[in-house]
Amino acid sequence: MALYSEKVMDHFRNPRNVGTIENADGIGEVGNAKCGDIMKIYLKIDNDIITDVKFETFGCGSAIASSSMATVMIKGKPVSEALTLTNKAVTEALDGLPAHKLHCSVLAEEAIKSALKDYFDKNNIPYDAALYEKCDACCHEHEGVTE
Ligand code: FES
Repeated sequence: MALYSEKVMDHFRNPRNVGTIENADGIGEVGNAKCGDIMKIYLKIDNDIITDVKFETFGCGSAIASSSMATVMIKGKPVSEALTLTNKAVTEALDGLPAHKLHCSVLAEEAIKSALKDYFDKNNIPYDAALYEKCDACCHEHEGVTE
């Protein structure tokens, strides 16, 4: 079996929603200290719906494919739904990632959550802080992953 699924290769070669959004309603930037990869997500939110989303990823192919897929999955969706997007869902939508590349999809989940947090903070919208604690825990778990 090939190391990467066709979907991963497709989203890596033809990433969707690449770029930036001027006057974005929420911006999130996260990085993985181990590999040094960085992901930035821009959200445009109208009436609680994510009307546009763009990303810039300075990172590996799996991180690019994960960000691309994650943006496709949250575009047009309510904020509450985007907030529950997990790296597992992104990985499944990509038809899987090799075990040592799972942390790349965690970056996509984190970047979206971080952009949503920015939106909540800017608009004084209360949110469930536990969601962010859970994310921290999951990232620590992945810090132990070695290449
Ligand atoms: Fe760094 Fe994939 S995100 S190796």
